[in-house]
Amino acid sequence: MEPEYYEVFGEFRGVLMDKRFTKYWEDVEAFLARPDDLVIATYPKSGTTWICEIVYMIYKEGDVEKCKEDAIFNRIPFLECRNEDLINGIKQLEEKESPRIVKTHLPPKLLPVSFWEKNCKMIYLCRNAKDVVVSYYYFQLMITSYPNPKSFSEFVEKFMQGQVPYGSWYDHVKAWWEKSKNSHVLFMFYEDMKEDIRREVLKLIEFLGRKPSAELVDKIIQHTSFQEMKNNPSTNYTMMPEEMLNQKVTPFMRKGIIGDWKNHFPEALRKRFDEHYEHQMKDCTVKFRTEL
Ligand code: A3P
Repeated sequence: MEPEYYEVFGEFRGVLMDKRFTKYWEDVEAFLARPDDLVIATYPKSGTTWICEIVYMIYKEGDVEKCKEDAIFNRIPFLECRNEDLINGIKQLEEKESPRIVKTHLPPKLLPVSFWEKNCKMIYLCRNAKDVVVSYYYFQLMITSYPNPKSFSEFVEKFMQGQVPYGSWYDHVKAWWEKSKNSHVLFMFYEDMKEDIRREVLKLIEFLGRKPSAELVDKIIQHTSFQEMKNNPSTNYTMMPEEMLNQKVTPFMRKGIIGDWKNHFPEALRKRFDEHYEHQMKDCTVKFRTEL
């Protein structure tokens, strides 16, 4: 039977969260960061998998075979992801050798304090809200344990009210934007990556203190293109059991474009969304592009 929305999600310290993730929050809070951990933080559906694969390639110096050794969700554990004993991101990370790469969708206030104390490097990748909401809608349709998001317009309303997992996109982006004033936090945009991937890969290499070479950058661009990642079982999530992620509904690697919102937002909804957006973001200097 289909679960009820608030059976699965619950308000946690002001952020709507998957209740399975917050059930053992003491484990997340007590997580011990290592100084050479790298945190990759995003709001869901902002291109997390893409930037994770790029960073992994940088760490492995362009060795594609090493990148294919396991599924991305095992190579780069998802910190707060928990489903009783079946999935435990904390445990996966504890068992990893350094240097670790940590994936998270947490807003800064929920990130284990140890990452801040150790001054770990962090990358925050974001994407324009309208494309995020479209991608998030399809994603919710795929996750079998989640309630059906009903119509797109109903889901957009929930998104605007912060009543989706990880809460308000606006608060998430604003809080991480503030944090990016620290030089150990790199703030990136999906749209910039779509516009000029070479420039953005070089930015990442520099931030990570690695040596750039034209050969490495070429390999990374080739291996992490949308089509390549869509065909690669270690990045396209087909290694995740279908009982959890049903890709018959829609593939995880769906479109990978800027501006798909135009195919989903009726004019009236777009107008309402934009007005609400202006209000939410009025005091924030961060600017997004919704088309190129
Ligand atoms: P769409 O649903 O709009 O296609 P996340 O990894 O944070 O869950 O984000 C998933 C989104 O990033 C999906 O967006 C997916 O297609 C897109 N994506 C993944 N890999 C990509 C790549 N190599 N290039 C462009 N977009 C990519």
